[in-house]
Amino acid sequence: MGVKIVETALRDGHQSLFATRMTTEEVLLALKELDKVGYHALEVWGGATFDACLRFLNEDPWERLRKIKKVCKHTKLQMLFRGQNILGYRHYADDVVEKFVKLSIKNGIDIIRVFDALNDIRNLECAVKATKKYGGECQIALSYTTSPVHTIEYYVNLAKQVEALGADSLCIKDMAGVLLPETAYQLIKAIKENTKLPVELHSHCTGGLMEMTYMRAIQAGVDIIDTALSPLSGGTSQPCTESINYALEGTEYDPKLNKEMLELAAIKLAPVRQKYLNNGLLNPKVLGCNPNILKYQVPGGMLSNLISQLTQQGALDKLDEVLAEVPNVRKDLGYPPLVTPLSQMVGTQAVLNVLNKERYKMVPKEINDYLHGKYGQAPAIVNEEVRHKIIGNDEVITYRPADDLKPEFKSLKEQYKGIAKSDEDVLSIALFQDIAIKFLKRRNEDLKPTVIKLEA
Ligand code: CO
Repeated sequence: MGVKIVETALRDGHQSLFATRMTTEEVLLALKELDKVGYHALEVWGGATFDACLRFLNEDPWERLRKIKKVCKHTKLQMLFRGQNILGYRHYADDVVEKFVKLSIKNGIDIIRVFDALNDIRNLECAVKATKKYGGECQIALSYTTSPVHTIEYYVNLAKQVEALGADSLCIKDMAGVLLPETAYQLIKAIKENTKLPVELHSHCTGGLMEMTYMRAIQAGVDIIDTALSPLSGGTSQPCTESINYALEGTEYDPKLNKEMLELAAIKLAPVRQKYLNNGLLNPKVLGCNPNILKYQVPGGMLSNLISQLTQQGALDKLDEVLAEVPNVRKDLGYPPLVTPLSQMVGTQAVLNVLNKERYKMVPKEINDYLHGKYGQAPAIVNEEVRHKIIGNDEVITYRPADDLKPEFKSLKEQYKGIAKSDEDVLSIALFQDIAIKFLKRRNEDLKPTVIKLEA
């Protein structure tokens, strides 16, 4: 059987290239064609798509999902789910996690890809159980990173835990695009040999080597790869779907995608790429190749964040120093993978350490929480000297952080009953508070005249 393809254009594609700004109208443009391509799944939903809908596009993310589902009759829909953070930035109580999973599936999601920044399996348990309970397909993604502890054995060990947890498949999530071809081969092969799970690879072209890495992963037996339709591919996004399909055509790995539908879809989405190039949201810089990310081992998004933070402070000349400090901070914190929210936390701490000319003189609240164990278990031993400097003799929790959280859905529903018209609305508020409330108030106002008209 050939390699299966997950199309990322409608989630990670525009998230990686132009800050997730595609509107629902644009998402729907080529959906009929994409539904006939023969993909394993279409990735269409996640934290940033949800956030951008409410924050920038004045759109209801749930409504987007329902509209997509209405068109997609042949292809499974996939979303990205940040474990106990759901799509937000803090840990939520189990009842909120379960409710979110339930309603995601009810509104159209088939496959939920769950991950935790620290690969702390305990932070995945609730979302995994809920996905199975409500009939969804559950994939667990392991955040890929490099460090002395992140060896192939480390990932194989995690993969076995993922299998034991009851996941339907496993994904290696290389958010930074730093997975080298030979490492990919060894890693995928080892996981395939040690588990029965279908394995998927997700990566980014940022460093310029991802087509090679995908090829080696395919030769090692990877079952599914993530690619993006040409207008949303390349640069900081995924490798191009059409090109990969051509490259594998006629081989034992042939994905056998419908080329005519791919071409029609690409024609429809080409003007979208052009629109964001024209309005400046798609910076041609991100379309190029940036081998620096291989040197510094930081995701492209984090690198551009650091540049903008330093530019704002008039300290761009300190960039090299900050980039050299990033691995030191990571080491002190027990080598967390650099993925949301850890990438922002580690980046900010590295900037503070350099600009203050004293390490850990200033520490953001999130790092403080992390050192208290509130994000879960660090992959490796934390530097106790640093921890003591920051939190003194405070107690460090070693249980699952969400065990401290009391059920919160009912009280949220009661608290916002004037604004929230559905349980979906309550969840939007739970995740994005003021931003969701602002959106819902505006939406409710817009709905009013229609109601009066109907009554008359
Ligand atoms: Co990605």
